[in-house]
Amino acid sequence: MTEYRTGLGWDNHRLAAGRVLILAGIVIPHETGFEAHSDGDILLHAVTDALLGAVALGDIGMHFPDTDPQWRGASSDRFVRHALSLVRERGFELSNIDTTVILQRPKLKDYREQIRLNLASLVGLPSDRVNVKFKTAEKVGPVGQELSAEAQAIVTILRHTDR
Ligand code: C5P
Ligand code: MG
Repeated sequence: MTEYRTGLGWDNHRLAAGRVLILAGIVIPHETGFEAHSDGDILLHAVTDALLGAVALGDIGMHFPDTDPQWRGASSDRFVRHALSLVRERGFELSNIDTTVILQRPKLKDYREQIRLNLASLVGLPSDRVNVKFKTAEKVGPVGQELSAEAQAIVTILRHTDR
């Protein structure tokens, strides 16, 4: 029998001048970037929460408290790697990841392949099992006013059981 599970993740960060705008480890040239304790990579934070969710292990703040100085400026691929190791320890493999980034500006479509390939390589999936979607917020609300950005992720994991 194959046991399937899904996990959902969401994150947002404020945008501020003089910070880096980074998505799945890819730096996007822009006049603002994420205000955060870590590097603020909302896409990797959403993926981390989705992985933790699929194995019912709470959320990113439980595993990497933002009050802990060891995570200051941390590269967020560490969070994903750790969550993935918890998934694999339980005998699961990752099937696919789908994501959405909601950012008013800049246009991200020219970075789609870089972001997708980086995310795929980080989690050890072929790129045809990783998807990255982009949306504006139609200039409405904090995301639309370019005060913040959001990311959503959903993952499916599976393991083979005897039953
Ligand atoms: O939000 P909206 O539906 O207007 O976005 C239209 C398209 O623009 C999206 O499907 C996406 O391909 C692209 N987009 C982008 N970068 C953004 C927001 C949207 O490339 N920051
Ligand atoms: Mg639209």
